[in-house]
Amino acid sequence: MDARDVRITMEDWEAAAREKLSPMAYDYYAGGAGEEWTLAENRRAFDRWIIRPRALVDVSGVDLRTTVLGQRVPFPILLAPTAFHKLAHPEGELATARAAAGLSALMVVSTVATFTLEEVAQTGVHRWFQLYVMEDRDFSVRLVERAHLAGYQAIVLTVDVPVLGRRLRDERNRFALPPGVEMVNLRNSGLPQTAGSGLFTFFAAQPNRGLTWEDVAWLRSLSPLPLVLKGILTREDAELATEAGVDGIIVSNHGGRQLDGVPASLDALPEVVEAVAGRVEVMVDGGVRRGTDVLKALALGARAVLVGRPYLWGLAVAGEEGVRSVLETLRDELGLAMILSGRASVADVDRSLVGPAPGSSPETPPSLR
Ligand SMILES: Cc1cc2nc3c(=O)[nH]c(=O)nc-3n(C[C@H](O)[C@H](O)[C@H](O)COP(=O)(O)O)c2cc1C
Repeated sequence: MDARDVRITMEDWEAAAREKLSPMAYDYYAGGAGEEWTLAENRRAFDRWIIRPRALVDVSGVDLRTTVLGQRVPFPILLAPTAFHKLAHPEGELATARAAAGLSALMVVSTVATFTLEEVAQTGVHRWFQLYVMEDRDFSVRLVERAHLAGYQAIVLTVDVPVLGRRLRDERNRFALPPGVEMVNLRNSGLPQTAGSGLFTFFAAQPNRGLTWEDVAWLRSLSPLPLVLKGILTREDAELATEAGVDGIIVSNHGGRQLDGVPASLDALPEVVEAVAGRVEVMVDGGVRRGTDVLKALALGARAVLVGRPYLWGLAVAGEEGVRSVLETLRDELGLAMILSGRASVADVDRSLVGPAPGSSPETPPSLR
């Protein structure tokens, strides 16, 4: 076997996916907004923390199980909502969902998936539905109703896309969906579904710039499902979200794909955790690439992390099996990191587990120091 075929890190999976995907698809998945400073910062932020391991702790029964919004998950790593899985593999979201289901992991399914939300539900995966609210509010109402009927257990409203960020790679490549890759959940929504209709056309045609905090109450009234806001980066918005009665917050900068220059999500995590003071569950995504990243995020107050690109690389390289392998690697690395840092369960991972790396001073609110 060629050494290049041994894939043991997320970087290995990305390199293999890059060889397999068209440059347009690879750039769409890998890229960020603007100069991609925030994209890179998402990774760098993890290097600003070190792990302070404890010795002689009984870790013979290490246990990664936890709950998110009261739902049991076998490990605190969820699949972030990502668009267009058919760009990576013909079985698209179905392959992703089957892999997640096989591990009992929780998948957040995107509005702009390339299989319908009902088809994804049939895999039996534990699932939340990510919602983009569009100009046609009635269409969003129907999407929420469909998700509820199809057994989705939470609605994740993405709040960082009033319009699409400026993604230079996609502009240069004139990114467009190839034939056969469609936003099937949006059929009959008046959107162009023809081959080549780009993502940009979708958002350009259906701006949701008018969405405000007042609409959060409206959204909550649409179904009894818990509501999570994805894309919060400041204590001010964390406070408003808490007052609005949401059930969860995902601290996120959309994988560096929306506004370049915003902070790494890991850097924004402590102030959000401090602001909500335990009233709302806080999750984080952006740049999580190894088990020690998950451990650091949990130590800084996240209930769980979400990963995006890593499982897309797995999907591109090996379909369902690739997604499974990526998730297993992250899960097993987290288990190893917990054992080696003397933490037998997720509940044992607390703030004392991390400290600032030499020469760096990550911003931490006083109460979390
Ligand atoms: C290719 C791609 C497509 C995405 N599509 C969506 C989407 O449809 N809805 C959404 O809320 N977030 C979307 N995101 C953002 C992810 O949910 C998540 O915030 C981000 O990928 C996390 O960063 P990571 O890729 O570094 O793990 C997308 C991200 C990528 C990379």
